[in-house]
Amino acid sequence: MIFKKIFYRLYQGVLLNIMQAIKYNSKVISKKGAVYYIPAILKKQHITRVLVVTGPHIVKSGLFQKILCAFKDQGLSCRVFNKVSPETGIKSVEDMRRIYMESRCNAIIAIGGGSVIDCAKAAAGGIANPGRSIRSLSGYQKVKGNSLLGNFIWKIFPWEIFSGRKLPVTVAVPTTAGTGAEATACAVIKDVDGSKKIIADTCIAPRYAVLDPLMTQDLPKVMVAYTGMDALTHATEAYINRYSSKNSRKDAKMAVRLIASNITSVYYGMGGTSPRKNMLEASYLAGRAFMRASVGYVHAISHAIGGRYNLPHGMVVAAVLPYVLEWYGSCIDKKLASLSDAAGVSAKYMSVPEKAQAYINYIKMLNHRFGINTNFYNALIKEMKKGSNLEKEVKNIAKCAIIESNPHYPVPKIMSLPECEKLVYRLIGNYIMIN
Ligand SMILES: [Fe+2]
Repeated sequence: MIFKKIFYRLYQGVLLNIMQAIKYNSKVISKKGAVYYIPAILKKQHITRVLVVTGPHIVKSGLFQKILCAFKDQGLSCRVFNKVSPETGIKSVEDMRRIYMESRCNAIIAIGGGSVIDCAKAAAGGIANPGRSIRSLSGYQKVKGNSLLGNFIWKIFPWEIFSGRKLPVTVAVPTTAGTGAEATACAVIKDVDGSKKIIADTCIAPRYAVLDPLMTQDLPKVMVAYTGMDALTHATEAYINRYSSKNSRKDAKMAVRLIASNITSVYYGMGGTSPRKNMLEASYLAGRAFMRASVGYVHAISHAIGGRYNLPHGMVVAAVLPYVLEWYGSCIDKKLASLSDAAGVSAKYMSVPEKAQAYINYIKMLNHRFGINTNFYNALIKEMKKGSNLEKEVKNIAKCAIIESNPHYPVPKIMSLPECEKLVYRLIGNYIMIN
């Protein structure tokens, strides 16, 4: 195990240092009504034809129709693609690319949650590679070049002049505050067989992230809680990971501060647009932080559980987060104490371990307040009543989580397969005890 751990750390060190060095060209526009600035921004770049990508529910809203009218009034010719759903994945992206090409658009505006923005990013990658299937772009750095080195060369030289691989301008307008998809350079797309494909390339990060609190005004309470807790998990995991840079820690800490002071107001619909704007900014900052410093075991275990039982991502990460933080133990006390200060849940007289525990207790309290524990366990019971064997389930979840995380995630402490099984038993065992 000791040689394995040395190899993991060397691998993570090299990968994360490369990630920190890469520059992103994303611009952020954060303001109430910012969505109406998009035509002027695009016009400056001589863009007049756009593909507006959204989901079937959003397209029916009065706000969406109002935005579309405003775009048209300002001289933007809009083609709307509204068939994006998390289930249709790769097929949606292929259709999106075809329509973009047929309509001779020059930009994509993605208005929606994480899956809408991810599909738009994948389509942008596909538009730069018209001869290739979207599936073939999955993996790391396959959109512009075939390797990290290729991508670096592209960063230095205007690679697209030689390769012809020009990406459309992508504008992301999130309608949820949590996934961070508007800040990241990867797209998770569902394939027709249900498997997930990840397209990760620095060039697919949206050129503009438009953070407009008008877009989250109709977000249901439960979604505020799930997506907000997802953002808190992104920030926490990015902050405690090894090899995180000064900038990513600054982003993560700021995100925690903003979430702690706004999530409850947004959940209860208080305080007007300002808390919603702050939550959107927190989600963006947390997304930028984990893009550089990565996520960790919370996400790996949650992906395994969520994928197996088809549970909402934000709900599962929130339930898993305190368990993983407790497992890390004293090695993250200092960092958690710092997050505890940022969240405003510590007191001056507290020692470092006490502050760290206060942060974990704060997460547990939020989960309780938002009903996440109850929802999570109820959903789990429903799925597990279908006659599964607990031992087999735990083994499968732990195996998937370890395959996803080791050696890729620069976690503070490396977890072995038996340790992961034990943690999953603790998590699931709790519901058995309660019920
Ligand atoms: Fe997440």
